[in-house]
Amino acid sequence: MTHPTSKTIDIRTELPGPKAKVVLARRDASVVKGLYRSCPIVADTARGAAVTDVDGNTFIDLNAGIGALNCGHCPETVTAAIHKQADKLLHLCAIVGTYEPYVELCEKLNGLVPIAGETKTLLCNTGVEASENAVKIARYATGRQAIIVFEGAFHGRSLLGMTMTSKYDLYKRGFGPFAPEVYRVPFPYAYREKPEGMSDGAYVDHAIGQFEKALVAQVDPTSVAAVIIEPVQGEGGFIRAPDAYLRRLRGLCAEHGILFVADEVQSGFCRTGKVFAIEHSGVEPDMVLMAKSIGSGMPIAAVTGKAAVMDAPHVGGLGSTYGGNPVACASAIASIDFMVEHDLSMRAIEIGKITAEYFRVWKEKYGIIGDVRCTGAMCAIEFVNDRGTKEPNKTSPARVIEAGYQRGLIMIRAGLYSSCVRTLAPLTITDAQLHEAMGALGEAVAVADGEHGE
Ligand SMILES: Cc1ncc(COP(=O)(O)O)c(C=O)c1O
Repeated sequence: MTHPTSKTIDIRTELPGPKAKVVLARRDASVVKGLYRSCPIVADTARGAAVTDVDGNTFIDLNAGIGALNCGHCPETVTAAIHKQADKLLHLCAIVGTYEPYVELCEKLNGLVPIAGETKTLLCNTGVEASENAVKIARYATGRQAIIVFEGAFHGRSLLGMTMTSKYDLYKRGFGPFAPEVYRVPFPYAYREKPEGMSDGAYVDHAIGQFEKALVAQVDPTSVAAVIIEPVQGEGGFIRAPDAYLRRLRGLCAEHGILFVADEVQSGFCRTGKVFAIEHSGVEPDMVLMAKSIGSGMPIAAVTGKAAVMDAPHVGGLGSTYGGNPVACASAIASIDFMVEHDLSMRAIEIGKITAEYFRVWKEKYGIIGDVRCTGAMCAIEFVNDRGTKEPNKTSPARVIEAGYQRGLIMIRAGLYSSCVRTLAPLTITDAQLHEAMGALGEAVAVADGEHGE
């Protein structure tokens, strides 16, 4: 990793620049409106944490493909592995035959997940496919149909994925009817849900009580196949479930024969300071869902779990044409090696510490900030209209992102109320780049604070 001390951000034109404007107009004319675009960057090349647009402006990426680029943009060992594999074998289909990269990646993931005993893996293309396959496998293995998910959850955009996802306004409005047998319970979101004056321990009791009540009021536990939980909610606003909550939830699952599935699509692969966020709690899941940073930008995802569970479905019941494509596997193998070699978990902790310090100062300074949260390098600022009422502030995130873009940052919002800005810097970002980015982000927050209520 290089550690440049000179500035990375280099803005040479008005933004968006003239060439970007042309591509953006073509996008508007040819691409569906339903595909959201967080900022008007038109990227041309990227390396590490830096992205250069078609007009030659260079930005620092604080979004990293929504958490898909923990190893940074185009890490050399990964792109070399992709090129090498592309020249050897582009595709075969794992349903048709076998190629070593598929097997090697599964072996690596089997050893990586925090599950004792024999583990097995299914590779697929995207996070939502991992979610869907986990449901299929859990249903088959348990002979039960119901799935429990959480408020604020995001598990993808297919019909079942969208059903399991929360947040109607953005992800679900107009797309129903949804899939049956999906039940939703409150997520332990202390900033919004913990009653004033309640201790953290009492809040865990309270939140577990809500889960237990759902097993009486909403769904018979003997018909529940799996609980699917993000140990740190991603789209929900980077909310970390307390370790004690996860342990008690695990206990309830074991008691009722329910499988515990950790969705690590966004929180996985060193982002939170551990390879998987569930490891902070010591909980051993039955299955782990992976995507995003596993492939450094190549479309690959995985479900890894206890062999007895994973092997339950009949032969032919699982698979897809491209799931575990050879090139995507090569990318994932090289990405995992990169994470280990560069100790990206440790780097995530350092990035989180630096970021949290900036966030803490801004929280004291700007009334629009209600809460700041960092689990490793999974960091978010939650904006409010009023610190007392905590009324969600949905306008400031867009202003911060726009003002940040004008200062050379790439960012995206988050949160059940779309009231958060998250930072998911590539874990290869240098200290100098991080401080530079935080300088620009601080200015952007000041702009939004100044404009608030206008
Ligand atoms: C926790 C989580 N699960 C599943 C998904 C769906 O992944 P994909 O967009 O690759 O289908 C996402 C995507 O953001 C996610 O954050």
